Amino acid sequence: MAQQSDAIEALYGENRKFPPPPEFQARAVVSDDEIYRRAEADPEAFWAEQAETLDWFKPWDTVLEWEPPFAKWFTGGKLNASVNCVDRHVAAGRGDKVAYYFEGEPGDRRALTYAELLTEVCRCANALKELGVRRGDRVAIYMPMVLELPIAILACARIGAPHTVVFGGFSAEALRDRILDADARFVITADGGYRRGKPFALKAQADRALAETPAVRNVLVVRRTGEEVAMQGGRDLWWHEVVARQADECEPEQMDSEDMLYLLYTSGSTGKPKGILHTTAGYLLGTSFTHRHVFDLQDDDIYWCAADIGWVTGHSYIVYGPLANGATGVLYEGTPDYPGFDRWWEIIERYGVTILYCAPTAIRAHMKWGAEHAGKHDLSSLRLLGSVGEPINPEAWIWYHQTIGGGRCPIVDTWWQTETGSILISPLPGVTTTKPGSATFPLPGIGADVVDEAGNSVPLGRGGYLVLTRPWPSMLRGIYGDPERYKETYWSRYPGKYFVGDGCKRDDEGYYWLLGRVDDVMNISGHRISTTEIESSLVSDPRVAEAAVVGQPDPVTGEAIFCFVILRSGVTASPELGQELRQHVAKQIGAFARPKTVMFTPDLPKTRSGKIMRRLLRDVASGRTLGDTTTLADASVVEQIRAASTSAKSDE
Ligand code: PRX
Repeated sequence: MAQQSDAIEALYGENRKFPPPPEFQARAVVSDDEIYRRAEADPEAFWAEQAETLDWFKPWDTVLEWEPPFAKWFTGGKLNASVNCVDRHVAAGRGDKVAYYFEGEPGDRRALTYAELLTEVCRCANALKELGVRRGDRVAIYMPMVLELPIAILACARIGAPHTVVFGGFSAEALRDRILDADARFVITADGGYRRGKPFALKAQADRALAETPAVRNVLVVRRTGEEVAMQGGRDLWWHEVVARQADECEPEQMDSEDMLYLLYTSGSTGKPKGILHTTAGYLLGTSFTHRHVFDLQDDDIYWCAADIGWVTGHSYIVYGPLANGATGVLYEGTPDYPGFDRWWEIIERYGVTILYCAPTAIRAHMKWGAEHAGKHDLSSLRLLGSVGEPINPEAWIWYHQTIGGGRCPIVDTWWQTETGSILISPLPGVTTTKPGSATFPLPGIGADVVDEAGNSVPLGRGGYLVLTRPWPSMLRGIYGDPERYKETYWSRYPGKYFVGDGCKRDDEGYYWLLGRVDDVMNISGHRISTTEIESSLVSDPRVAEAAVVGQPDPVTGEAIFCFVILRSGVTASPELGQELRQHVAKQIGAFARPKTVMFTPDLPKTRSGKIMRRLLRDVASGRTLGDTTTLADASVVEQIRAASTSAKSDE
């Protein structure tokens, strides 16, 4: 371990400190660190106290039943997520508060109040019921970032039908696999959406998936772009026809705390995506607690999370967390660079956004485009900035702080995962002195540690593997249909501890510095993509014999996908073939997973037991000096690849 941790440790030497500004601290939700001590003294009592902030049909009997690695939180309790996110705010006289300011990419806008949201959710829920969707049925949702997306999600929650949202950038094949794995019988989609000024088709993609998912009974289609789509009689129905004519009220299902709320598929280090299973009470508690405390939510905040709802960040911090807290949010459909590089800053100025939450990859893109675009707009409404999805390099942190935050806004660098459901390591902005690039400390109630190969806690100042030492309310309850994989992936490496899969260093003051994945998962623009998935996709082209994929450091996307490809004999390498393979992967998985580089190589570096030595390939891809090559079966291979890399790159 010593060798590995030292290799990781060398990365950072950042020591600037940013204490909470006194004016911020003065009105902060949390302004002293007593909450950490209270939570640590009795975590279960702490979570029980926090759970009082939710609305229950029936209170729970037991806070936690923990039979490692299976946790149940708030058993015996009954509640409904949509009631917590919508009804209770209307009932409390806050129906006129805006839930979402929607901004379409073409510039269409709509403010949706909590009272209107309630009506829309009920109508959609009634429509689903009319189509025969019952409690427990899985509904797949494949949509652009329009208001009907959170409405559909909440409608599912209202009737107790778990949703599985598939990011609109995923391909038909990816959608098909998710529909099949979840055994979803109903699909909600749209004709398309807008991206960079052009409509893109979703229904046509969905149709390709649906051709191979015969169990799907109905498809509800939102009209967004007005482009022509094929509607299959008996199966496909227009949202505006079916939903509009429904009654405005829909009795919510009384769900058990541990009833499934949703599945969300994510990449693991083996090829098959995992259906991460979240349940109702613990997830709502985790997201609402962290949204209030980490983002220091005040009643007059205008909060904008610029992620896509198709990823967990959007589930937790565009839909469930903010709505459970009755917040006003911005929902933006499009890209940050359309029609100009200042689109985000224009949105912040228009709505008076006070809290912005986005990914380092977006910050780096804005850095690249230049500070002048932000300079054109009044960003003085901002008071807090957040970062998520990958380590934020200190340079980007400082740019975000100065250029966007005007030097006055604390930054919360929030570490978490699809599996954790909500933020686990992050500053509390009224309490924590931050250091650029560090997610700082585990939140109150969260048990974390950094351990070595043998599972021993490493001393401060050293690096190792991040683990979570006790269950937390919003933790995943399993991988859908595969309890063995759940145990194996997260709980087998260090019995009794959750294995995160991220490297981490704690500095001398105990600050956590996340160091990226330690397994074969890349982080491209804050999205987890497994190297195996890309390799399988490449090998599915009949001209490819073998492929090895690694992440290559990239100044904007964090990592870029770099593919080493061995062609079958008789096939000739060419730049055109490289382009075709990149396109092939984009078609199979989604455009966001398009490899940056395809390099043809005669061979791959392998150990004597035949394992591909990715470490060496990463060195080649990033142009680094080669690490230890002593276990290579054929040491000349790397040099051959190196030579090829200067001549045969198909792209960039
Ligand atoms: O490697 C960590 C990185 O993203 C992984 C989780 O990816 P996903 O499940 O797609 O969820 C992304 C949004 C929560 C983690 O294992 N990661 C996430 N946030 C951070 C991070 N790495 C460093 N710092 C962060 N703030």
